[in-house]
Amino acid sequence: MILVNENYLKLQDSYLFSTIAKKVAEFTEENPDKRIIKLGIGDVTLPIAKVVGEAINKATEEMLHKETFRGYGPEQGYDFLREKIVEFDYKKRGINIEIDEVFVSDGAKCDTGNIGELFSKDNVVAITDPVYPVYLDTNIMAGRTGNYNKEQDKYEKIVYIPATSENNFIPELPKEKVDMIYLCFPNNPTGTVLTKDELAKWVKYAKENKAIILFDSAYEAFIREDNVPHSIYEIDGAKEVAIEFRSFSKTAGFTGVRCAYTVVPKELVAYTKNNEEVSLNRLWNRRQCTKFNGVPYITQRAAEAVYSEEGQKEIRKNIDYYMENAKLIREGLTEAGYTVYGGKNAPYIWLKVPKGYTSWEFFDYLLEKANVVGTPGVGFGPSGEGYFRLTAFGSKENTIEAIKRIKKM
Ligand code: MLT
Repeated sequence: MILVNENYLKLQDSYLFSTIAKKVAEFTEENPDKRIIKLGIGDVTLPIAKVVGEAINKATEEMLHKETFRGYGPEQGYDFLREKIVEFDYKKRGINIEIDEVFVSDGAKCDTGNIGELFSKDNVVAITDPVYPVYLDTNIMAGRTGNYNKEQDKYEKIVYIPATSENNFIPELPKEKVDMIYLCFPNNPTGTVLTKDELAKWVKYAKENKAIILFDSAYEAFIREDNVPHSIYEIDGAKEVAIEFRSFSKTAGFTGVRCAYTVVPKELVAYTKNNEEVSLNRLWNRRQCTKFNGVPYITQRAAEAVYSEEGQKEIRKNIDYYMENAKLIREGLTEAGYTVYGGKNAPYIWLKVPKGYTSWEFFDYLLEKANVVGTPGVGFGPSGEGYFRLTAFGSKENTIEAIKRIKKM
């Protein structure tokens, strides 16, 4: 008899963004005349840079000829791209990352989800609350949680670390001992950031407790203020305790192209029950070689082009465009009397829902009255209740129109 992985049965009914998509589809069917503005899922809307498109065309042309055709590439990614990553994303910031510490992949979502395979089921997992749902769901699937407690909207065995307006969105170090810590900064969903000093406290905690930090910095390109770390490796000693996830999705409009990378430093270790050190770089390499055949050559050439002079210019222009939207949302909502957070170093704006509404009730109200789609805060965890997320990834016209409609509500 084929037995199922019963951990999957502990998952909530559907992935947050699928639930939202279903609700919006129903509303559209019932109200075909309404023009809906989607500021829910963080998906980019501006096209990829011209130079990236040209690189795709050139690589496609190469694939058409026997002399330049490429089959399987290296599972870790082509050196031409890994060299650029090391040079531009790290060396320029004074961080020394070696090329064989970089693993190119098809998305930070997959990597943050798959990385858990390297770690024992017995580890205690800490997540900030609210949180990007992938970190929690993949640990449920892996069996690192107990059951779901409906009353608390929490899973047993998981350590939830609140990041709310009460603590200025600065999560406190856990009081208990944890082993795997997920941090995402600039933060999805709150759009808030940690200073270097704050992040350094986590690195210190991880060192003292032989824990690991899984650091998602998918939104680093949106940082505007000084003293906000772009990489966890800006903190001394972080290479001994942290894996970093980066993505071209939001930085360069690659949500549909699919390219990301993960840095697993060579000094990073986990332990056997007998306290023997095991290199995580070696394990991740082993895992990727077995389960992954690399990102398409064409896609990696596209990612390489992001680092060209023209590519850098174009992506900065696009990021500025989104950050201008973020400003419009922040200012517009503040004028309308809302309390807003984030949006200064991140493409997400986190607002307090009006008194008397839950975040799902506010979702329905906004959809009904303004035909605007956002994401209910509670979808990201119990501490997200009473909050709501809007993204800055829409078009400027739609963003202006959405704010106009919200002001009228
Ligand atoms: C989001 O809306 O939170 C993003 O789409 C997350 C992601 O990149 O998967």
